[in-house]
Amino acid sequence: MAKSLGILTGGGDCPGLNAVIRAVVRRADAAGWDVVAVREGWRGLVEPIFEDLGPSQVSGILPRGGTIIGTSRTNPFKVEGGVERVLQNFSDRGLDALVAIGGEDTLGVAARLFAEHGLPIVGVPKTIDNDLSGTDYTFGFDTAVFIATEAIDRLHTTAESHNRVMVVEVMGRHTGWIAVMSGIAGGADVILIPEEPFDVDDVCDRIRHRHLRGARFSIVVVAEGAIPKEGTMATQEAEVDQFGHVRLGGIGNLLQTEIEGRTGFETRVTILGHIQRGGTPTAYDRVLATRFGVEAIDAVHQGDFGTMVALRGPDIVRVPLADAVRELKTVDRRIYDAASVFFG
Ligand code: F6P
Repeated sequence: MAKSLGILTGGGDCPGLNAVIRAVVRRADAAGWDVVAVREGWRGLVEPIFEDLGPSQVSGILPRGGTIIGTSRTNPFKVEGGVERVLQNFSDRGLDALVAIGGEDTLGVAARLFAEHGLPIVGVPKTIDNDLSGTDYTFGFDTAVFIATEAIDRLHTTAESHNRVMVVEVMGRHTGWIAVMSGIAGGADVILIPEEPFDVDDVCDRIRHRHLRGARFSIVVVAEGAIPKEGTMATQEAEVDQFGHVRLGGIGNLLQTEIEGRTGFETRVTILGHIQRGGTPTAYDRVLATRFGVEAIDAVHQGDFGTMVALRGPDIVRVPLADAVRELKTVDRRIYDAASVFFG
């Protein structure tokens, strides 16, 4: 009898999820596994919400953004009886293994379900934030950087026409990967990331310096999680989700007010938001997602559970799930130093 494999996508969506789903279904089918979509992340195992998924359902989804099996930020450890329901529904549906595609939160749940309850899980790392340790890159990140870079390019021309300062706020949660990479690629004049608390006076000095030497505009890229040094400018309160994460966003607006007020230069803000997560994945993300999906099925087939597939240099490898979610992967100081050569 064919074995049965569940697949779920959890947390914020990102370009490339469908490419993994396609790879998993195609490779699993060839290896003689039936695949069941667990809809809307961990919610699909808590409720349960299942759907059969075969090669015909994944035909044509490779270039599509989002996830055809839905996602949510449900945390079974925070739902009354959630973990027991996950285990019961897994067994009632006759699942033999699970591929969980997600970031820090989804894979954190996967790591606990494996370690504490022996659930046979293989993880696949995704997130536009690129903040997962254990892998050099997550898919979705390249697309987000591409979109942010294109936005910075476009903002350059309008900034120059109007002699304005443009503040561009990008996502990335508590790391500045998207900010630093798109900032370098887009030629930003200042890049602010959570790893390096900033002083708004210093930001204003750099902008003044540029304008004194004849520049007609400045571009400031700020990561949504960037933090002003204590007592240097106003901050704001934020809501918290089931994983205890604050909902970020809005630092760009505060910065715009501070820069305009302190320098007198006309300043505008663009918050890129979910634009960075939508739409078709880049070729790089499609390839990475496909390689991850194929390797995940090989791990399942070999019974190598409690692992996460990962990119290390040119290789796709497997690392323990627990290691992958132990700490956030912050921006490499050497990359930020290279970016700062062009500040001011
Ligand atoms: O983790 C991906 C991400 O896009 C972060 O960069 C951002 O802070 C968060 O998700 C936004 O979450 P939501 O889609 O729930 O608003």
